Amino acid sequence: MTGKVDFTGVQSTMLVTLYLRALESRSKDSILHDRAAAEALDRVDYDWRKLQQPGLASNRFGVALRAKQLDDWAADFLRRNPDATVLQLGCGLDSRAFRLDRPSGVCWYDVDLPDVIELHRKLYPESDDYRTIGASATDPAWLAEIPAERPVLIIAEGLLMYLPPIEVERLLRRITDRFHTGELIFDEVAPWVAGLTQRIPERLRKGYPPYLTPIREGRDIERWNPRLRYIEETAVTEQYAKIPNPTVRAVYRTMCTFPALRNWLRVFRAEF
Ligand SMILES: C[S@@+](CC[C@H](N)C(=O)[O-])C[C@H]1O[C@@H](n2cnc3c(N)ncnc32)[C@H](O)[C@@H]1O
Repeated sequence: MTGKVDFTGVQSTMLVTLYLRALESRSKDSILHDRAAAEALDRVDYDWRKLQQPGLASNRFGVALRAKQLDDWAADFLRRNPDATVLQLGCGLDSRAFRLDRPSGVCWYDVDLPDVIELHRKLYPESDDYRTIGASATDPAWLAEIPAERPVLIIAEGLLMYLPPIEVERLLRRITDRFHTGELIFDEVAPWVAGLTQRIPERLRKGYPPYLTPIREGRDIERWNPRLRYIEETAVTEQYAKIPNPTVRAVYRTMCTFPALRNWLRVFRAEF
């Protein structure tokens, strides 16, 4: 068991995603099968009852669908590039490095803020080809230490929306300046969702920060950084057929008939 854990601000959001992945993995029809999340949950000394709020549990399907799409793209990239470097930014307590079959030539780095990584290291073992970095993703210093020769896969799940737009652009520019070739896979919210979170008073957001950088369309990636080429995207709601719960499946299917609701959260793939 870890020592007593509590986080505020943006770091606290990773407790929610861990909780939801653990919950989802316990169902017999699990989409993601993230058993490591359930094990981590049992070892983190946090009062998980705080997250037993009405309606929250149904978000486990969206979180699992988003993670599954990113898993599939990551696995595909690693099949094509078995000597790749992976940088997972804003990793939280995610177990993707252990969920996927990592080819033995892959070097994987999980990056998050120092207090998150301190806890992460108590749960997941580091090794020669799996390292964690406790720093802001936007800090140029750590990136300069990563070997730059190999193709790189950048994974940013639940991160870019929390960064100011200028920091997103600087981060992506730093990445394409440092590496010759690679892919970027990430999720993003629609502008109306970001606007909504910015208008909700802080006390109603329960300490969670608002979204600062949304995306309108996939081509925005090329406006953020002209060296990136947009490849594809999918809305999380479009994957509704995989949801085993009939009520939530019907809600997602209905959302798909309204473009604004369908696109509230999308996952994107780009290359350079
Ligand atoms: C919504 S959580 C997602 C965590 C994880 N990717 C997942 O899906 O469970 C957002 C994460 O981004 C991290 N984060 C926020 N700002 C960051 C920054 N500037 N640098 C690194 N990590 C950051 C937070 O600490 C948190 O772990």
